[in-house]
Amino acid sequence: MEFIREYADWFYLIGAVLFILTLRGLSGPKTAIAGNRYGMIAMAIAVLTTFFVADNPVVWMIVGAMVLGAIVGIARARTVPMTQMPETVALMHSLVGLAAVLIAIAAIIHNNKLVELGPDLLAANGINFHEMSKVHLFELFVGCFVGAITFTASVFAYGKLAAKKWAKTISGAWVKPVQALIFIAMLGFGIHFFLTGNMTSFWAMTGLALAFGWVWIAPVGGGDMPVVVSLLNSFSGWAAAGIGFTLENNMLIVAGSLVGSSGAILSYIMCKAMNRSIINVLFGGAMGGAAAPTAGAGEQVQRNYRSGSADDAGFLMSNADSVVIIPGYGMAQGRAQNAVKELANLLKEQGVTVRFAIHPVAGRMPGHMNVLLAEADVPYEDILEMDEINSDFPATDVVLVIGANDVVNPAAKDDPNSPIYGMPILEAHKARTIMVIKRSMATGYAGLDNDLFYNDKTMMIFGDAKKVVEDMTKAINGTGH
Ligand code: TAP
Repeated sequence: MEFIREYADWFYLIGAVLFILTLRGLSGPKTAIAGNRYGMIAMAIAVLTTFFVADNPVVWMIVGAMVLGAIVGIARARTVPMTQMPETVALMHSLVGLAAVLIAIAAIIHNNKLVELGPDLLAANGINFHEMSKVHLFELFVGCFVGAITFTASVFAYGKLAAKKWAKTISGAWVKPVQALIFIAMLGFGIHFFLTGNMTSFWAMTGLALAFGWVWIAPVGGGDMPVVVSLLNSFSGWAAAGIGFTLENNMLIVAGSLVGSSGAILSYIMCKAMNRSIINVLFGGAMGGAAAPTAGAGEQVQRNYRSGSADDAGFLMSNADSVVIIPGYGMAQGRAQNAVKELANLLKEQGVTVRFAIHPVAGRMPGHMNVLLAEADVPYEDILEMDEINSDFPATDVVLVIGANDVVNPAAKDDPNSPIYGMPILEAHKARTIMVIKRSMATGYAGLDNDLFYNDKTMMIFGDAKKVVEDMTKAINGTGH
């Protein structure tokens, strides 16, 4: 054990490098499993080293908490359906926030107890004690309020995503002034605590930070929750890093900073792909989720579109050289991924080149389509990101859009008045033939009409994604009616 104590910094360094490799691995589906493994090893190194480095650890408490946590974690990991992943992640972030708050409280109470005992008694018992420095108070102040905000905001995000009744969206003219008031009061008490070490101010700051987390996130629309969850992921990292300084634990500082920065980058990427700013998501009120009928709805009735059957579509695809499948939220909603994989395999058997094109914000959570296609065992090499595939569309015979809408809306490129103008899209409209599977002419998440559906080259195939794709497969197999 002495060995671990002596070389603790080396173990932490190895852990930190492994955490960096984890993030690198998680950036692509092929390397994600290895990335997860690095993360598990790094976490084991971090926990074990900290365990042996700690002065007088209360072993039964730590082991008890670890066993309890492992039981809950394993049970949840084994049973959680893919669709409940975002809310599970939100719930996990809430625990990081809560841990930061509890550690800050414990550190302060511990310090106050030592001050009460007095330097003479401590010296007599061989306890080396220094009064908390200003830097320490600052770390505690920041770590605690960021942790408290993360805690209640993540609990709300969990409730919202899990459609719990208590997670009600709030709106009204009073919301912003109340948010500002709570925030300013929280900062005021925090600064007072920092300057004086006053405990009443500390408790007031913590309580207000808890309240702020709730009123800050409660007005955000349900559809924007994935961005919020990613941002809270970042917050939980910064809170952990702050507490890492308090505990003088280098590993926690490094791991917290990695989580903090990667979460911030992911939030930025998501906002950019949705053509929104993070400020707009957090303070702009609700957008989407409520599939708002648009002014264009009346127009839709008059505009002409072409519709066809699954049989026609199957025939066309089996005679094509190249097919690109664009999955969207509707594929997830209709749980059509396995049927889609079978269709792709069948087309391949017939000599058709089949590839999948993934938009960064297709679906409702980061990597939504990648996860579904991986679940259906679609080979990674067939799955291409937007930037890789966009230049291939003009030479593509058939694009099959399955339950996607906003991510293929040409208005993002052509219509400066469109709210999604400037958002990068999959340029399906450039293909030779376009087929779109959806149940109606209804709008998608952004509530916008889509010119692609009225394009001369487009054939709409109405129906539930899974049923239509299965019918296409039957038609190509010749087993259809
Ligand atoms: P959407 O634009 O939301 O369109 C999905 C389409 O699927 C709908 O128009 C719907 O039309 C159809 N659909 C729904 N259920 C179906 C089913 N069972 N079978 C067949 N079709 C079905 O989806 P998208 O193109 O994937 O774009 C995602 C949107 O979500 C973007 O606006 C994005 O900004 C937003 N968003 C994404 C994320 C992330 S991180 N992915 C997070 C928040 C918001 P019908 O009702 O006519 O069938």
